Amino acid sequence: MDRELALEFARVTEAAALNSARWMGKGDKIAADDAAVKAMRAMFDTINIDGTVVIGEGEMDEAPMLYIGEKVGLGRGPKVDIAVDPLEGTNLVAKGMNGAIAVLAVAEENGLLHAPDMYMEKIAVGPGAKGAISLAYSVEENVINVAKALGKSVQDVTVVLLDRPRHEKQIQAIRKLGARIKLISDGDVNPAVATAFPESGVDILMGIGGAPEGVLAAAALKCMGGDMQGRLVPENDEDIARAKKLGIEDINKILTLDDLVRTDDVIFAATGITDSEMLRGVRFHKDRATTHTVVMRGQTGTVRFIEAQHFFAKKPKYVKMEG
Ligand code: FBP
Repeated sequence: MDRELALEFARVTEAAALNSARWMGKGDKIAADDAAVKAMRAMFDTINIDGTVVIGEGEMDEAPMLYIGEKVGLGRGPKVDIAVDPLEGTNLVAKGMNGAIAVLAVAEENGLLHAPDMYMEKIAVGPGAKGAISLAYSVEENVINVAKALGKSVQDVTVVLLDRPRHEKQIQAIRKLGARIKLISDGDVNPAVATAFPESGVDILMGIGGAPEGVLAAAALKCMGGDMQGRLVPENDEDIARAKKLGIEDINKILTLDDLVRTDDVIFAATGITDSEMLRGVRFHKDRATTHTVVMRGQTGTVRFIEAQHFFAKKPKYVKMEG
């Protein structure tokens, strides 16, 4: 993929974030998501790619736009796989809470695991702890290994987990070990990526969350030289069948970073909707809105933070900013 595309994809997440941010605190997660989806879909169609959505808003019969298999882009240019979450953290926007982002990953065709919409057990760390983690290790072993790799004491390691009863055992184990914990209500892509930024204050993302979100986070960690593993957690036979349909034969396999993202030819972009460790959320002013975006490329490892000003009077028609 041409490097110029990185900026195009930043525009896509900016558009989704701008539209969705108008819904902050309004208690309507469906409208917030819908606004993000429409803006993202429209912006994709300004880009010279022959894209196929491989991770999106659901199956064709469940989602009107950005469904799995949908073609996006102008249809000329590189053939690419696209993973999107136009609004990652729908509840966060609905309640005006921190941590919501608009996010996407694009890779050369077949470069991304076609993750089914089910749970995935995950562990993610930044480049400083690459090789120190495994889903085959205990929680304690992982935390101790990461502490060693980062040259910190265990008590200074911060682990982020979704605040869910299913994580109670892990939380107790981490507390007993003496490490720090940050429990989040939603949105595990953001902290997984934040592990790659030492100043974020996040060292490890652990626990069970969405599998599609796992692939999105893996794309960023691939670009930044971090590390991640995932293992699908099917809840019923239907989940197992869905995974098989997408080409995943061994449902229990520990998926490495290279299984989740099979190429270096990958671009990751995310724009803050509400504030987070990594990205400031959208700010609205008299005549304009500002966005904060991170965009990175796997081939070079370049990471750019882009602060953009979007003037209402000159806004393109696909950024309606309704709400
Ligand atoms: P949304 O789909 O509402 O944006 O939620 C996203 C999310 O919080 C992910 O970040 C996380 O991986 C998953 O949902 C957790 O699922 P659950 O809420 O079922 O524990």
